[in-house]
Amino acid sequence: MIQLEHLSYQYPDGNPALSDITYHFEAGKCYCLSGPNGCGKSTLFRILNGLSFASAGSYLLDGVDVTEKKMRDKAFAASLHRRIGYIMQNTEVQLFTRSVEEEIAFGLYQMGLSDEEVVARVEKYISLLGLESLRKRSPFTLSGGEKKRTALAAILAMDPPALIMDEPLNGLDEDGQQWVTDFIRGLKTPDRLLIVATHNKDLISEIADETIYMTKEHTFR
Ligand SMILES: Nc1ncnc2c1ncn2[C@@H]1O[C@H](COP(=O)(O)OP(=O)(O)O)[C@@H](O)[C@H]1O
Ligand SMILES: [Mg+2]
Repeated sequence: MIQLEHLSYQYPDGNPALSDITYHFEAGKCYCLSGPNGCGKSTLFRILNGLSFASAGSYLLDGVDVTEKKMRDKAFAASLHRRIGYIMQNTEVQLFTRSVEEEIAFGLYQMGLSDEEVVARVEKYISLLGLESLRKRSPFTLSGGEKKRTALAAILAMDPPALIMDEPLNGLDEDGQQWVTDFIRGLKTPDRLLIVATHNKDLISEIADETIYMTKEHTFR
């Protein structure tokens, strides 16, 4: 599903962040990506989500080269975002509406779903993520774990075939970590691609089909 061919990336200030990565992520598998801080995990995820672009080499999604030019095509960009759900490391920056239920509905309206379908999915994911008592609350007033659950609900409601999670246990207390670990385990299906950046050995041992180690030289070992 996701093919990286000699992918490299440097920030505009010259900072190298990814160096000559060749890898193939297949649908139906769960990959855990670990490695020291600064090795490039979050940068790679930005590229996979079409928010940054390879400085050299390529990123192919279902065989199509994802380039800056390609992402200017609104239909292609929308289809990429429909195929890849992205839970950012800092969930805070991902939430922007006035209430938890609006947060979940927003992406569904963007997808062009009918009002009935939006309502049905909002209800389903509010229930699935245990957000009933928080549905009218402003996302900004929520705890770290509640924000994470809201972001998960908003992304999962769009039912993306691939899900990318950047350090999903970060900033959660022990109960929150256990809850999210169990939840992610439940997300594994025969078709879904999961890519999870994490340092957490328990999470890795519970969910990973493949574990990738990224080195401080910014490449896969
Ligand atoms: N906006 C930025 N501008 C310049 N350098 C950056 C920026 N963001 C990250 N970097 C650098 O890129 C490298 C990879 O960072 P990052 O992808 O955040 O790593 P990780 O997620 O594995 O901790 C690091 O050296 C980091 O300092
Ligand atoms: Mg990171």
